[in-house]
Amino acid sequence: MAGQKGSNEIADAAAKDDKVKAWNIVVNRVKNIDGYMSLFQEVYPSVKSKNDLGIQHIANALAHYEDKGYRAVDSPYDRYKEGELTALNFEAKKGMKLFYGKAKCSQCHTGKFQTDGKFYNLAIPPVGPGKEKGLGGKEDFGRELVTKKISDRYKFRTPTLRNVVLTGPWGHNGIFQTLEEVIDHHLNPEESLFNFNFNSFLYLDDEDPGHTVFDMTFVKENMLTSHDLPRVDLNNQEKEYLIEFLYALTDLNPLPREVLIPESVPSGLPVKD
Ligand code: HEC
Repeated sequence: MAGQKGSNEIADAAAKDDKVKAWNIVVNRVKNIDGYMSLFQEVYPSVKSKNDLGIQHIANALAHYEDKGYRAVDSPYDRYKEGELTALNFEAKKGMKLFYGKAKCSQCHTGKFQTDGKFYNLAIPPVGPGKEKGLGGKEDFGRELVTKKISDRYKFRTPTLRNVVLTGPWGHNGIFQTLEEVIDHHLNPEESLFNFNFNSFLYLDDEDPGHTVFDMTFVKENMLTSHDLPRVDLNNQEKEYLIEFLYALTDLNPLPREVLIPESVPSGLPVKD
């Protein structure tokens, strides 16, 4: 989100993993815009002068905005759970039963927000810039980059499925264009990974621009031997029911865009629609 290395000083600090430097640049920029200081002082009484402003105030303010603005807790599924039995249609009810039963989705997508917060290897086609160079090329090693444990290779956190129909493309690298593809991948990662058209996603090597590096045989073999998905067989009708259930996880009462997007911001930068 800081941008690509070389495009600005924050991205450069982030690329060197120098978080403190990146944070300091952000704080300095923000505190030198008067409009922001008065807003921070309003919500954080401890921020009396510019020098009191820290990255924690900015991070908490952003977290609060996300928490209030993008919380999805009033879906047909919630209403159904609260006793409004007509909130789910026939198909969504069938899908819910599959989700929490035969399809084994709730093995990982569990709890109120359909996530156990844990990490799994789903053998998702590893395209995109990733985070660091892996052994086989440039694939993203996922959780391993944090824990340094090889057993965490290619693992990513189970995401919430709240509002999931609104947040495509799907997968941590946005590789799936439809929910059907996501489900097909969960049901048969071998087929999905082997049939994936990697040629349409070329990598550029930093050191050798124009040259693409990716040892797919290595990736496929290593991903598929250790993936965590249970074996499940579903017919097309059942897949449609599951998708109908995913629709039922959409919040019916989102905050209006006018509330979420200000007309202007203190920096004077343009605010896009
Ligand atoms: C072994 C644990 C596990 C099981 C079982 C599982 N999932 Fe997932 N699911 C995940 C993880 C982990 C991801 C994120 C993968 C990634 O992006 O690398 C994910 C991603 C998804 C996504 C994409 C979300 C997004 O925002 O991109 C959907 C939709 C989804 N799962 C639905 C299902 C359904 C439906 C089932 C049952 C058929 C299911 N999952 C079973 C772990 C699981």
